[in-house]
Amino acid sequence: MENFTEGRNHPPKTFKRYTITSALPYANGPLHIGHLAGVYIPADIYARYLRMKGRDVIFIGGSDEHGVPITIKARQQGVTPQEIVDKYHEMIKSSFALLGISFDIYSRTSLPVHHQIASDFFLTLYNKGEFIEKTSQQYFDEAAQQFLADRYITGTCPYCSYDQAYGDQCEKCGTSLNATDLINPKSVLSGQKPVLKETNHWFLPLDKYQPWLSEWILKGHKDDWKPNVYGQCKSWIEQGLQPRAVTRDLDWGVKVPLPDTERKVLYVWFDAPIGYISATKDWAEQGLERGNPADKEKYLNWERYWKDPETKLVHFIGKDNIVFHCIIFPAMLKAEGSYILPENVPAFEFMNLENDKISTSRNWAVWLHEYLKDFSGKQDVLRYVLTANAPETKDNDFTWKDFQTRNNSELLAIFGNFVNRTMVLVQKFYGGKVPSPGSFSDLDTKTWGQIKDFADLIGESLEQYRFREALNNLMDLARMGNKYLTESEPWKLIKTDEERVKTIMYVSLQICANLAVLSEPFLPFTAEKIRKMLGLPQYYWDDARRNDLLPAGQVLGEPALLFEKIEDAAIQHEVEKLLATKETNKTNTLTLKPQKGMISLNDFSAVDIRCGTILEAEKVPKTQKLLKLKIDTGLDVRTVVSGIAEYFNPEEIIGRRVSILANLEPVTIRGIESKGMILMAENSDGKLFFVSPDDGTLSGADIK
Ligand code: MF3
Ligand code: ZN
Repeated sequence: MENFTEGRNHPPKTFKRYTITSALPYANGPLHIGHLAGVYIPADIYARYLRMKGRDVIFIGGSDEHGVPITIKARQQGVTPQEIVDKYHEMIKSSFALLGISFDIYSRTSLPVHHQIASDFFLTLYNKGEFIEKTSQQYFDEAAQQFLADRYITGTCPYCSYDQAYGDQCEKCGTSLNATDLINPKSVLSGQKPVLKETNHWFLPLDKYQPWLSEWILKGHKDDWKPNVYGQCKSWIEQGLQPRAVTRDLDWGVKVPLPDTERKVLYVWFDAPIGYISATKDWAEQGLERGNPADKEKYLNWERYWKDPETKLVHFIGKDNIVFHCIIFPAMLKAEGSYILPENVPAFEFMNLENDKISTSRNWAVWLHEYLKDFSGKQDVLRYVLTANAPETKDNDFTWKDFQTRNNSELLAIFGNFVNRTMVLVQKFYGGKVPSPGSFSDLDTKTWGQIKDFADLIGESLEQYRFREALNNLMDLARMGNKYLTESEPWKLIKTDEERVKTIMYVSLQICANLAVLSEPFLPFTAEKIRKMLGLPQYYWDDARRNDLLPAGQVLGEPALLFEKIEDAAIQHEVEKLLATKETNKTNTLTLKPQKGMISLNDFSAVDIRCGTILEAEKVPKTQKLLKLKIDTGLDVRTVVSGIAEYFNPEEIIGRRVSILANLEPVTIRGIESKGMILMAENSDGKLFFVSPDDGTLSGADIK
């Protein structure tokens, strides 16, 4: 594992309080294991740990309820955007609660408090002259009488020829785009070709912050930010930062608080991170309303969580959010001037599922709400597996087989087994009462000495965002307990040396007690069960540096099993669900795109499609998806660049019959002039198929 604190030559700063944020999920779909593994479980472990350290912590979550995907979904379903976000906000919020994600507040960006704070934030920057106002030409749908922001426009990507690229990004090749880069732009609203129309927007001049960002991140956080985060920031900064528009022509979002801006809202990535701040205010207002006098001071001074330099701000996010949290949001905070900046942004990589990328549109996911139904009471198993396998430094894979193995041979066989053996023996030997220890053997002394090291060991890993390592250290404590029991054999000794058995069981019980304390951040439901069994109070983390958490003479509760075996049948059920999804995706009951707007026969007769033959094919160097083809169209032999390289090898398609759109205006892609387009059919899994004319057709025959 990389050591990203290596070389740190200054002592870590100490902080008075912690503001821990977790990316606000879009309220347009349910949560899946990718969200959990990459953001919410590590953030929750971190927050729980710090609270147990007695630190002042606020852990923030909430729904991101603006943005074009939400309005598009609402349109597709014939409901209002508010109905969409209401539905998913409730669903997401309750799944988080069931999984034990211990937010201090789970807020939402459609609340008035958020609109107020986001709007004020914008105004402050506006009044300070921090924005550039620019008029530019943007696509407009005349039929719908609406500007087409971001995902309201699709077209062909100029880099990879993918024909469903969005106005802000091509999801095939990952390039971020401007709508005006798209070839053949089309409105998602009407299917029509949009027109260009003038509109004005406000831009945050990121270029102005480049020297400061360079200093702050590249110099200041070289040693303490994770290499994946630091690397992405470095590459963004070195490419040169450009002004970014912070407003959009849309009806859904936080209204731009300026005159004559009726149909303009803040860009979702401008308002959403401010959502962390408004969530904090929401928390304070709710807290004051509940009216606990002891906390009043804390709530009244909620702004300290954002403005006091003695507060440590940490953003938990997935890797696709790095630029927004490391560059754009800090630039916004800096421009505003009164806020603190994040100390760290521990972004995780992605979790795959059974060797395939998680995909909402292909339903390739383990959905949290379904897991909670299928494996009711087993929240900690999911928390454990996703932490043990966390995509900390590289993408990782979730498989149901691994899930079963980790439950059966780790949680059950190591952790559960140790606690259970101890409880059962104490029940049997002492009627469930903690015995008084006698004198210690060498083994007892050695074990006793080791117990107290775990609190610091696990704590240090957590402070450095090494969650897998921390969990493994916790399991080592259980392993140590098992080894101790196995080596000291109290079940045999009870016949010959009753005094020593008391010591052994006393030491074992202290290990159980330490496990109850130290497992809390990772396995809160299990920790609670052990605490109940042992009759322990809610200890602080540092109490586990002692190893006498459980006094002799204390009467224990009934032993209860912490984990159950997960049988093949349960796993089989999940695997079959996924296989069925694969089948569905293959046979392609595809998420049908709605029929496009009507055209006349005249419009169609303007389209010239011919039968053709591929004569030559080669990969375009330094691209993933592009093939350069020579096509015999009957009219001529011409070059076409086509984004099909992921599905076809050049050798195997030579001689293939194709349909070619012949009178498409030529475009230059990667320096190659492409004249025309090969027609392809696409399944919902993205797989491409040639639309081949039958044998007997001649090259040049027109298709009509
Ligand atoms: N909704 C975004 C996503 O899912 C994350 C927003 S994080 C915030 O990618 F900072 F903007 F809130
Ligand atoms: Zn592309």
